[in-house]
Amino acid sequence: MKRTIIITGGNTGLGYSCAGYIAGSSNDYTIMIACRNVQKGNKAAEKLKEKTGNPNIYVLELNLASFASVRKFKEDYCKGGYPPLYGIVCNAGVHQHGRLKYTEDGIEEAFGVNHLGHFLLVNLLLQNMENDGRVVFVTSDTHDSDKIQFHDAGRLAYPEKFGCAEDGYPVSKLCNILCTYEMARRLKGQGKKHITVNAFNPGFMPDTGLPKALPPILNILIPALISVYAVCIGTYSNSRRSGKALAEMMVGKTYENKTGIYNDRGKIKESSRASYDKKAAVQLWVESAEMAGLKNEETICGIKS
Ligand SMILES: NC(=O)c1ccc[n+]([C@@H]2O[C@H](COP(=O)([O-])OP(=O)(O)OC[C@H]3O[C@@H](n4cnc5c(N)ncnc54)[C@H](OP(=O)(O)O)[C@@H]3O)[C@@H](O)[C@H]2O)c1
Repeated sequence: MKRTIIITGGNTGLGYSCAGYIAGSSNDYTIMIACRNVQKGNKAAEKLKEKTGNPNIYVLELNLASFASVRKFKEDYCKGGYPPLYGIVCNAGVHQHGRLKYTEDGIEEAFGVNHLGHFLLVNLLLQNMENDGRVVFVTSDTHDSDKIQFHDAGRLAYPEKFGCAEDGYPVSKLCNILCTYEMARRLKGQGKKHITVNAFNPGFMPDTGLPKALPPILNILIPALISVYAVCIGTYSNSRRSGKALAEMMVGKTYENKTGIYNDRGKIKESSRASYDKKAAVQLWVESAEMAGLKNEETICGIKS
């Protein structure tokens, strides 16, 4: 059966590796690389076609740092006439390593791209998905610390206004999990649709772009030190291994009908205590809908608490 899987940030790193495993598993899968730089996306698509022999690989522009771009992506996607939408891999991510940056909508970048952009994207597309579709949010084990808590979306979106100095990345990854569990709960109430929603932790992957987005010298030293630490505490991985585990979550039989789970490189585990806070998840959901301008009629999950 012909089906489409959208992979955000599928042009490189973990997303590219995952795209390769899915495309290589069957020509029935059409891969849509959703990326902010179409030129990079086209290069990746050509490489993937050559490597996997699957000709059904396409690219559309998606800048998760812009709500307008997310809405435009949905429009472009729906006009494209692709096979039915089966999966969305919310993989793209940024880590500013302590430097404050903002999205086009004036929101702190890690929260805006990693959580809000994906929140809007998936909600807008749920109604277009097949009844047994799958959504996976890529998170990180940096969410798993007692220090990482969700208080309110305003503090995360506008840290300077609230005098917050903490790194926005780990809490944006906690938001990915809170959003996963809340979306899974809301979708369970949908009669015909049995879309599953799960979170995936790829572990520390020193071979992707994310750990290297540090200033020169530090971008060699810090990933090397974290690699040693990650090996010691058992969180070390690479894009091949984690890309395969992520692809399995999207298309493997093992995950049929499994929803609201946290998967750490192929093993179902518990996420942090804070990630199971239902009240926080509902609050994040309602505040995210307001910030992203998502209307009730645009999502089958509803936006009210
Ligand atoms: N690497 C690790 O150790 C690690 C650990 C835990 C979790 N993760 C998670 O794994 C996921 C994949 O990251 P990676 O390690 O593969 O890093 P990566 O190689 O840097 O890939 C990140 C992808 O996100 C895209 N992206 C960034 N900002 C975007 C935006 N505004 N709109 C659309 N796309 C955007 C990048 O596009 P460009 O190519 O245009 O920059 C790139 O395709 C992320 O969610 C990350 O948080 C990674």
